[in-house]
Amino acid sequence: CGIIGYVGPREASRVVVEGLRRMEYRGYDSAGVAVVTDGALEVRKKAGKIVNLDAAIAADPLPPTGLGIGHTRWATHGGPTDYNAHPHTSANGRVALIHNGIIENFAPLRAELVAQGVAFTSETDTEVAAQLLGREVEGGADLADAMRSVCRQLQGAFTLVAIDSAEPARLVAARRNSPLVVGLGEGENFVASDVSAFIEFTRHAVELGQDRVVDVTADSFTVTDFDGTPADSHPFEVTWDLSAAEKQGYDWFMRKEIYEQPQAVADTLLGRYNEDGSLKLDELHIPEAELRTIDKIIIVACGTAYYAGMVAKYAIEHWTRIACEVEIASEFRYRDPIITPRTLVVTLSQSGETADTLMAIRHAREQGAKVIAICNTNGATIPRESDAVIYTHAGPEIGVASTKGFLTQVAACYLLGLYLAQVRGTKFGDEIAAIMGELAATPPLIQRVLDEIEPIKQLAAKYAEQKSVLFLGRHVGYPVALEGALKLKEIAYLHAEGFPAGELKHGPIALVENQIPIFVVVPPQGRDQLHDKVTSNIQEVRARGAFTIVLAEDDDEEVIPYADFLFRLPKVSTLMQPLVATVPLQMFACELASLKGYDVDQPRNLAKSVTVE
Ligand code: G6P
Repeated sequence: CGIIGYVGPREASRVVVEGLRRMEYRGYDSAGVAVVTDGALEVRKKAGKIVNLDAAIAADPLPPTGLGIGHTRWATHGGPTDYNAHPHTSANGRVALIHNGIIENFAPLRAELVAQGVAFTSETDTEVAAQLLGREVEGGADLADAMRSVCRQLQGAFTLVAIDSAEPARLVAARRNSPLVVGLGEGENFVASDVSAFIEFTRHAVELGQDRVVDVTADSFTVTDFDGTPADSHPFEVTWDLSAAEKQGYDWFMRKEIYEQPQAVADTLLGRYNEDGSLKLDELHIPEAELRTIDKIIIVACGTAYYAGMVAKYAIEHWTRIACEVEIASEFRYRDPIITPRTLVVTLSQSGETADTLMAIRHAREQGAKVIAICNTNGATIPRESDAVIYTHAGPEIGVASTKGFLTQVAACYLLGLYLAQVRGTKFGDEIAAIMGELAATPPLIQRVLDEIEPIKQLAAKYAEQKSVLFLGRHVGYPVALEGALKLKEIAYLHAEGFPAGELKHGPIALVENQIPIFVVVPPQGRDQLHDKVTSNIQEVRARGAFTIVLAEDDDEEVIPYADFLFRLPKVSTLMQPLVATVPLQMFACELASLKGYDVDQPRNLAKSVTVE
């Protein structure tokens, strides 16, 4: 979910709705806003996307006040209906409250309140917090004290923001395991799930620690823990501006972000290596001596980031000779993984807020492992709770389906892998310089792929009615195939699967039927027998009637007879190939979803940043 609160001289409902629009990628099942006027709360909320809320406000305008809160929802408890939409108000009309997360003990709390005669109007876990807070302020508690008292009673994950009808110039927010940043303007302040909500007004932001309550007026903010003890907070400057968070003429954020990839990868690499190609990861505050003792690496991540981790495994093991496992974050801690102080856990998360990933790293650190986060979002929870962080510097990613997030995660993992090889001496300086040279050469090659992407768009037009698409690859081409399939599922709602090309004959080949499109990522020629093996696999599926869509490097002549459609990739080494080969697959999905008339940036049922487990 996305949440925002505003206090200052502007018309709060406008600032809040605009902020929600910028955060709509966080959830779009329903949206709502609340303001205070003449000692009373005014709430508008609607199921569906923000346009529905716009219509509700247009039909019944909100008074111009300087205090407001707003919420855009990704439903967990209670379906996406008008009455389950946030803000929720207390039965006595004193407070309006918005929430992101899950209140795990809401059932007993709700039963207790119902027994006391409190009438509930929704099925949400959130309303419990609103009712508890309303009761506290009605009993005379100060709003911040009341919030702290409520937080002490709640279990689970939550960001809460509340306003009180008796206080027209103050809001109070709290967080545990869920994101919240403060934006500091001149004579106005903001709280939000992420900085994109207020970037139009200020780039000065403050990150809060875990279990914090922040009391905000137009010109002050005070941070405490849940017991009221004053607590530190950390100011930071947002490095990008409003234009980065706008579409700039593209039809979709996703398409814009696909086109931003050459720059995004270049920015990830920027300042990370010396003239001689040696690496400097200044931000990696883990002593080199400690990095030399590492005997196992575990990469944990979700979704696209997990596939980036799968790519990274091949490179990291090859360069460092340290065993590297990759695991889906939501599975990790429940299988009692073997973690020792010599285990290095690397976590990949574009948003830095994915709850499954966060819980996995907490578990790893409890077991004594060191955790390095690779993340794109400054001030997010995962980097804050890790021992070190490598930021990807891709700029804001707003399309729900990750694109530049993936490429920059791969690039950042490669930096880390090479750095470990450098520290541990498993690669010599000139070898590292050579690989760094290859990596640094990829941005213009990614650009070349984009410049030549047109045939992929035309190909997509052919498949508007297609029911199923398969993707094959070997080595790093395998996770690329998985990512290509995921993109199609996410935004084109199409059944798509990626397989290791060699595994095909052990089952999936039974799926091959006449004219089924099969993408094949062909490894560069000359490396072991990989290229020839994949070329045989293309023939196997083609012999069974598949329409083969082959991605192969420039001078690969061998594939020509077996390719029904051939897309040329720039010549790069095997490990660099994911950085160029993923791009046409992203574009295929984007184009196909567009043609089918789907909302590419906000696909059904998904959210960009999933802050519940
Ligand atoms: C969600 C998104 C995916 C994303 C995954 C991990 O499920 O819908 O697109 O890959 O989260 O996100 P993260 O921010 O941790 O990289």
